[in-house]
Amino acid sequence: MVKSSLYMTWAKHHAAARFNLANSGIIGCDFSDLPVSLDDVSLNGPNHEGFLPLKQAIAEKYGVTPGQVVTAQGTSMANFLAMATAIDRGDEVLIEQPAYDPLLGALNYLGAEIRRFHRKMENEYQIDIDEIESLITSKTRLIVITSPHNPSGFPVERSTMKHIGELAATVGAKVLVDEVYRDILFETAEACCFHLGPQFLTTSSLTKSYGLSGLRCGWILCDPDFAERARRLNDLFGAVGSVPSDTLSVAAFRNLHLLESRTRSIIDPNIALVREFLNNHRNYLDCIMAPRTMIAFPRLKNMAGSDILHDLLRKYDTSIVPGRFFESPQHFRLGFAVRTEDVLKGLNHLSTALHQLG
Ligand SMILES: Cc1ncc(COP(=O)(O)O)c(C=O)c1O
Repeated sequence: MVKSSLYMTWAKHHAAARFNLANSGIIGCDFSDLPVSLDDVSLNGPNHEGFLPLKQAIAEKYGVTPGQVVTAQGTSMANFLAMATAIDRGDEVLIEQPAYDPLLGALNYLGAEIRRFHRKMENEYQIDIDEIESLITSKTRLIVITSPHNPSGFPVERSTMKHIGELAATVGAKVLVDEVYRDILFETAEACCFHLGPQFLTTSSLTKSYGLSGLRCGWILCDPDFAERARRLNDLFGAVGSVPSDTLSVAAFRNLHLLESRTRSIIDPNIALVREFLNNHRNYLDCIMAPRTMIAFPRLKNMAGSDILHDLLRKYDTSIVPGRFFESPQHFRLGFAVRTEDVLKGLNHLSTALHQLG
């Protein structure tokens, strides 16, 4: 059994570049972006079941109770914990294709019987409810979705998500929605999927939309019984969170409006740039872009696969994510939540490479 994520290993060791168009989240904050002081940080404190002020801050953001919040090390651990709580070995799980590789890796590790449903460019990366209906059985225990989708950036339509919830309820399955990219939708965001019904579990963190990956502040929203089981299971993993990180995360929640403005100011000009770039490179690429996103998933028209493009871009100190990490070798993932001047230069390099290969 492969006990790792090939994508994550690649991202940790090979994604870095001067012009990084491989990263999927907003460029990291420093202390000038977050007005906190040492007074905001505690070294130790009571957090056996998650640091209460942090659970309260998360609960307030979503209009839920602290009992419905499980804190975890990033969305990564939140996803693992949610999946490990929801399923036993041999249980059937439906998961989207293409998918974020660590989600698939975790399901494999947990011994799930994996079935795939498709999110296709031709269908604006939406989910075909008929396909879900054809795959779901009385043994299905979990359906795993990212919304917005990694790698395409498209959120799932609300009506489809409701329908999936109804189908899941008929067989007693949970629906795990990873919403780590949701908060960059700002005023266009639908309510968090947790509010769609008790079968929904949602995960997120302060990483992608806020530039606070270093805090590793992630969470699951779920019903209190599930939360209790997830916390007991976590006793076998991290057991408790880091108090310095949790106290800083509480301070971050107080300043979320500042981080949101920062995110907006970084992303907005870049969305326009990338849209124009994709329009101007239609000879080489097929791509649809979500109205608000910091990632896109172009498909190469005339090339064998995106590895060759990736390798050539390395000569220009520019990185993209090869599509093979998303089971889609003709595609590549483009991330653009970095400085506008770096996006511009990275796109220029991408243009040069496409012309050379084309
Ligand atoms: C869909 C998805 N979920 C989770 C993560 C990891 O998030 P975190 O940094 O909060 O662990 C990523 C990172 O790329 C992601 O794309």
